[in-house]
Amino acid sequence: MKITYYGHSCFGIEVDGKHLLFDPFISQNEKASHIDINAIPADYILLSHGHFDHVADVEAIAKRTNAKVVGSFEVVNWFAEKGLENNHPMNPGGNWKFDFGTVKCTAAIHSSSMPDGSYGGNPMGFHITTNRDNFYYAGDTALTLDMKLIGDYLKTDFALLPIGDNFTMGVDDAVIASDFIQCDNIIGLHYDTFGFIVVDHDEAKKKFSEKGKELTLMEIGESVER
Ligand code: NI
Ligand code: MN
Repeated sequence: MKITYYGHSCFGIEVDGKHLLFDPFISQNEKASHIDINAIPADYILLSHGHFDHVADVEAIAKRTNAKVVGSFEVVNWFAEKGLENNHPMNPGGNWKFDFGTVKCTAAIHSSSMPDGSYGGNPMGFHITTNRDNFYYAGDTALTLDMKLIGDYLKTDFALLPIGDNFTMGVDDAVIASDFIQCDNIIGLHYDTFGFIVVDHDEAKKKFSEKGKELTLMEIGESVER
């Protein structure tokens, strides 16, 4: 399994040769100007919700790679109207077995509209069970008691949680979320991109380490194997 960070909430995760890409927002992200979206592999593009900072590069990457777009019914249909017909609509609570593993759509407390203002359905996260590690990509969300269901019923080897505050939960709530989901290996997302979500990295890591957990804040463009 290989995890690559493309900035903001965008990660590429390779599982047994399949490339999953989450929430691509790169070409409009000044902090990711060194990333070439034409070099990003994708077999699946998973979208947590419709906000521009999660979907800006979907069309370009999906048209180049013919990746399957996975997201809420409304998000997927919006892209289908743009010609992305290789897609799979889902909604919170739903499971589907893909060739890389099983995706369960999880609850997220946030909002969701498409870049043109049209309705984006419910925001969600993804819990993904694979032959290797199982992981949770929370998307944009507040801390929510629903996360306890993940801890009670699913095994999570690592989790990608928002830490930037203001639009999502911040570091303190993310530490609580990691308890709810019973996971000690956290990768941060949705921080530093805009002025409202700048995070003190050392302080954030310390708050996790004080609870015996590890927060990883990846460099944009960095890959890690696990
Ligand atoms: Ni959002
Ligand atoms: Mn966002």
